[in-house]
Amino acid sequence: SLLHPLALVFGYLLGSIPFGLLLTRRAGTKDIRTIGSGNIGATNVLRTGRKDLAVLTLLGDALKGTVAVMVADSLGGETAALAAALGAFLGHIFPVWLRFRGGKGVATFLGITLGLAWPIAAVFALVWLIVAYFSRYSSLSALCASLASVLLVMWKGDDQMAMLLGVLTLLLWIKHRQNIQRLTNGTEGKIGAKS
Ligand code: G3P
Repeated sequence: SLLHPLALVFGYLLGSIPFGLLLTRRAGTKDIRTIGSGNIGATNVLRTGRKDLAVLTLLGDALKGTVAVMVADSLGGETAALAAALGAFLGHIFPVWLRFRGGKGVATFLGITLGLAWPIAAVFALVWLIVAYFSRYSSLSALCASLASVLLVMWKGDDQMAMLLGVLTLLLWIKHRQNIQRLTNGTEGKIGAKS
């Protein structure tokens, strides 16, 4: 089941590695949590002006999800993979090392779906890119992309996957509640705008 305990813990440990925080700290940047939105994700790392670190944050936060899913799948099959996926997402947004104040789950959602079923990741990335191209809002792009991928798996009729991505999307939206507020009152920052 989704609660396969070993896979869940394994995924959590990998997912809780905060690449944005570690990379910016190593580069000697000011604490990323005091810049821009205060988030530890790639969008906020970009606000420091370090495009290279933003790309590495995106890759790290995504690939930890992919690796968690693929390792769990090869050792324990599909149910272990789903549990590792949930664990990795929970680890990213609620890392024990940061007093449970983690990221918003966008890159990790992408990496997890890449490991579970790559067409979902492709749709997620495509919707993100289209919305970002027109709106320049990273948060709005993530909200739309996550919703699109849940609708896709529901339409395909894969109940377990729909359940997992439903939970992930709900958590992702909850973590974006301040972004949603800023989007509605017109104060959300656009991609690449420094602060
Ligand atoms: O990566 C999360 C993104 O959707 C929003 O990030 O820093 O603008 O809150 P941020």
